[in-house]
Amino acid sequence: MLTLNLDNIDVARLGPDQGLRWKDELRAHAEQLERAAAELESRRSDPQSFLGWMDVISDSQLTASVKELAGRVSPAIDDLVVLGIGGSSLGGLTVVTALQHPYHQLLRSRPAPRVHFVDNVDGDVLLGLMEVLDPARTAINVISKSGTTTETMSAYLLFKDWLSRALGDAYRSHVVATTDPVHGILRPLSSKEGFATLPVPANIGGRYSVLCPVGLFPAAVAGVDIDALLAGAREAQASFGAKAAENPVLQAALVHLLYAKRGKNICVFMPYSTRLRYLSDWFAQLWAESLGKEVDRLGSVVHSGTTPVKALGTTDQHSQVQLYREGPLDKLTVFVRVEKEGRPAPIPNAEPDQPDMNYLAGRRMQELMNAELAATAHALAEARRPSYTMHLPAIDARALGYILQFLMLQTAVVGEVLGIDTFNQPGVELGKVLTYALMGRPGYETQLAELRQAGVKP
Ligand code: PA5
Repeated sequence: MLTLNLDNIDVARLGPDQGLRWKDELRAHAEQLERAAAELESRRSDPQSFLGWMDVISDSQLTASVKELAGRVSPAIDDLVVLGIGGSSLGGLTVVTALQHPYHQLLRSRPAPRVHFVDNVDGDVLLGLMEVLDPARTAINVISKSGTTTETMSAYLLFKDWLSRALGDAYRSHVVATTDPVHGILRPLSSKEGFATLPVPANIGGRYSVLCPVGLFPAAVAGVDIDALLAGAREAQASFGAKAAENPVLQAALVHLLYAKRGKNICVFMPYSTRLRYLSDWFAQLWAESLGKEVDRLGSVVHSGTTPVKALGTTDQHSQVQLYREGPLDKLTVFVRVEKEGRPAPIPNAEPDQPDMNYLAGRRMQELMNAELAATAHALAEARRPSYTMHLPAIDARALGYILQFLMLQTAVVGEVLGIDTFNQPGVELGKVLTYALMGRPGYETQLAELRQAGVKP
């Protein structure tokens, strides 16, 4: 399903100080990688492990409940507004953008509702969205595992007010809450108000939640074939058990581990596909929050992680690649190449008298896209800059499910080898707590006093 091209990390291409003796490295690290994979497998059933994303893709009952609710909500609406942030937003956004008609919002006759992702506290944009929506034909999906995230709760308050002012008590049937099965205020609030709810399984953290109801419900409302999405993810999961020599997840993880050791502190993620543009955003969060840690699991200071950079081919060839080719030798680039074109788009011979244009005639846009990727990867290699390419057969639900699960597994393996807690995010939590304090939430008076002392104001 997904294959790796590692030519542009090899010593033969990059020379001895930037290239890897790949076969030797893989042999030398195979046992360590296989041990990390076995370790993850062994913790999989532990409810505290936050590895529930490995199993949720096989939970047919949960998937059925997502489909049932989406099937009930969709015919009654034209628009679904998703209120969430970070892991509670980016997965759904990635899937919907990749798989819906690229201009779904503009279709005159739409096969499914429009889905809008509100993931910021920008009042101007929020109120702008309300101006163009009909509350009677709109539902909101408020997604928060903790049920307390300021950005999501403030958007919920605005939309609840907007819906209830327009619809009275009937607004209740326009809200779907996706939250922790037990904890947090959103669960009891939903019971009191009678909102439809979906669970975020307790052992799945935000950035690993794309293939549970967090990402699946918006995707199902958007008309995505979530069974195929999950089938693709299960294929990736099934191949994870292979030995390192036949295991692309372990191999991709090793490339990152080796280059991080060699001082490549930046990881550029660059799909060559407009449909996959948010895959870069989703990956950047997954990578950054999972691997950027001050201490390892034994408490030693490690300051681990490489910095993800979101890029899009070919667009960012014209904005970033100058730096990648000639700037500091501190980057590893990951390209994503799509083999099959979505819509066949042969380039017509519309200027037969212009040799500088008509050489393109008869070629396909996808061919051009992939030629640009190959040219960029080669140009980087010429300048001794490592990259590798993930080949996807097509952009469809199955392939997308595969690459999402692949990237989660790869990240988990890197974290495991580094010996860190891949699934916590203490750095993000502190920012949340200090925001509560600055906004006057009861219980955060001590933090507020400390912030005032330091001269910090909202
Ligand atoms: O990956 C994570 O844990 C975060 O990005 C969370 O998803 C994000 O902070 C939102 O949290 P919550 O779902 O609790 O509102």
